[in-house]
Amino acid sequence: MASNALLRLEKISKHFAGGIVGLNDIDLSIAQGEFLSLLGPSGCGKTTTLRVIAGFEAPTDGHVWLDGRDITPLRAFDRPVNTVFQDYALFPHMSVADNVGFGLSLRKIAAAERRKRVAAALDMVGLADKINQRVQALSGGQRQRVALARAIVCEPRVLLLDEPLSALDAHLREQMQIELKRLQRELGTTFVMVTHDQTEALSISDRIVVMNKARIEQIASPSELYDRPATTFVAGFIGSMNLLWAKLRSRDTSTLHLASGSLALSVPAAGDAALKSGDATTVGVRPEDILLSRERIDGAAGARVESVVFQGRSLRVHLLTDDNISLTADIPRQAELAAMAVGEQIFASLRPGAACPVLPS
Ligand SMILES: Nc1ncnc2c1ncn2[C@@H]1O[C@H](COP(=O)(O)OP(=O)(O)OP(=O)(O)O)[C@@H](O)[C@H]1O
Ligand SMILES: [Mg+2]
Repeated sequence: MASNALLRLEKISKHFAGGIVGLNDIDLSIAQGEFLSLLGPSGCGKTTTLRVIAGFEAPTDGHVWLDGRDITPLRAFDRPVNTVFQDYALFPHMSVADNVGFGLSLRKIAAAERRKRVAAALDMVGLADKINQRVQALSGGQRQRVALARAIVCEPRVLLLDEPLSALDAHLREQMQIELKRLQRELGTTFVMVTHDQTEALSISDRIVVMNKARIEQIASPSELYDRPATTFVAGFIGSMNLLWAKLRSRDTSTLHLASGSLALSVPAAGDAALKSGDATTVGVRPEDILLSRERIDGAAGARVESVVFQGRSLRVHLLTDDNISLTADIPRQAELAAMAVGEQIFASLRPGAACPVLPS
């Protein structure tokens, strides 16, 4: 990755007044044409990372490289980088065309060329017919597209997007996710998007950077993050996950046999060679990997149904095992157990073959 990196953050730290650490030793390489998302809880440093890339914020330590060139000293205006801000930052009294062409005017692009490029950018975002409208007359989704057109019209090497879809309702948001992805593919431009919506990050990104407390927890593809979270933080943040404290009973070449209370957990052995019999660790178990039954089966733990929540295609069941361990299970609505009652005593077991990650404790 590093060798063909378009953009590279090297040991970036950012300290603010009052001893606040915004970023702590961030190393990150982004490939040409990649769609990368920065995901993490509020205050973890996502916006600060974008601002350092854009040049709105100077790092306390470290360097930003673009195309092998150290751009750390360059002013924001001199970087081939554009930003779509969360609130779009459009000029409400100006026309769509003037908003989109604003950056081109600043760069002294001739009027004829400007008109051509503005029209092409608006065409890309499906707003060619709104070119002469005032921004005030547009809907939220249309404003969002104007902000995108304004950012792509300057043909940046890197497009930065800070929570670009957060102001949109759920339906429009999903539609815009698909359009963003299409636009990125058509332009071939590198996109770096900030979001704190994990579903959005999982559905749209080539790779996701999970941040926590000013640091990077893990960088991986969506499926790798989901299947092989590297830390308990990532496991708890991406999708729903039962984090179970478990002891290793025995191991063979391909399988670890663990137990969390009376619940047996046989999981594939991967990258956990140091774990010995009797050692305790954390195992991540997805709700869809917990099976429920009325009869006791091998390795099952007795459990009481605490609540049943309707979720459309599935039911989410909260349980408390006889060893006092809380479990969350997702079961299909058609399952024989769908009619179970709160307070009912049943059995919970691990779905055979479930690939549960064993996490550092
Ligand atoms: N200009 C500033 N002065 C002082 N502290 C700041 C400044 N900008 C950011 N911070 C602090 O740096 C940390 C990271 O902030 P940042 O805005 O990058 O978070 P974020 O991940 O974008 O959060 P959110 O999801 O809420 O937008 C926070 O603790 C924040 O309070
Ligand atoms: Mg932010």
